[in-house]
Amino acid sequence: MGPLKGRDLLSLADLTADELQEILHLAAQLKAGTVNLKCQKILGLLFYKASTRTRVSFSAAMYQLGGQVLDLNPNVTQVSRGEPIADTARVLDRYLDILAIRTFDQRDLETFASYARIPIINALSDLEHPCQVLADLQTMQESFGSLNGLTLTYVGDGNNVAHSLMLGCAMAGVNVRVASPPNYQPLETIVEQATAIADGRTEVIVTTDPVAAAKGAHVLYTDVWASMGQEDLAESRIPIFQPYQVNEALLEHADKAAIVLHCLPAHREEEITNAVIEGPQSRVWDQAENRMHAQKALLASLLGAE
Ligand code: CP
Ligand code: NVA
Repeated sequence: MGPLKGRDLLSLADLTADELQEILHLAAQLKAGTVNLKCQKILGLLFYKASTRTRVSFSAAMYQLGGQVLDLNPNVTQVSRGEPIADTARVLDRYLDILAIRTFDQRDLETFASYARIPIINALSDLEHPCQVLADLQTMQESFGSLNGLTLTYVGDGNNVAHSLMLGCAMAGVNVRVASPPNYQPLETIVEQATAIADGRTEVIVTTDPVAAAKGAHVLYTDVWASMGQEDLAESRIPIFQPYQVNEALLEHADKAAIVLHCLPAHREEEITNAVIEGPQSRVWDQAENRMHAQKALLASLLGAE
């Protein structure tokens, strides 16, 4: 099991559409228990930002594969004292088999990847959150049987999660609509990349109108209004994002069988109401569980587990 052996995953666009389907297929098999892979390798976690799901799901996945995990807390390693990434990367490369990094600047991931020979995984940056979207697509596939022809509407800040969703949906044959306030829309480079991947087969739409975007959607998705590193902007963003709240009124515009996703952690009564996240259309707990299955499939593919 190693179609991606030795590769990096810095962006969802590092995968081809076929490779994405293979990971999703393997994730479903691992979840069902119809495949059992073993891989006695060492995963390093280097997280410059907080994490519950990504940290624990990567760790659990690696232990279930028979491997080991090292938590490289930046505060107790030399990285927070200014050791260059180029040096850290070449040293960690000698000890570890694979390294998942959560950081701010995408360029730091690229520097790690250029100096380390082992696979580098983006465990969230300000630009993207590819591992999250593997689990999101798995959850959608479980809910609807097939991804083809679905429409996902993301309502909120057009940053990391929205970017990876746009790329992942375009790659998986899912129409994607992003509704964000002006000045908080996805980066034009990502919109262009997603549009090129979709190649006219599915729609890639960015709008400021959450109601129009939600119309007939099969998946309604949101994320926090102030991401990690933007805590001081949280208060001032509330009035700007208020019209983009995922609530029962907005959900009314979606397809009757629509599901609601949120990458978590959630701020209830901000980007999503309690009634919706706890309601019958919410799939957020399955979505969180799938982080472990999807990342196990990713680890197995990058490491060549058998
Ligand atoms: N969704 C997600 O990445 O959660 P954590 O920040 O808890 O890892
Ligand atoms: N956009 C959020 C996602 C958290 C999983 C953040 O970057 O903080």
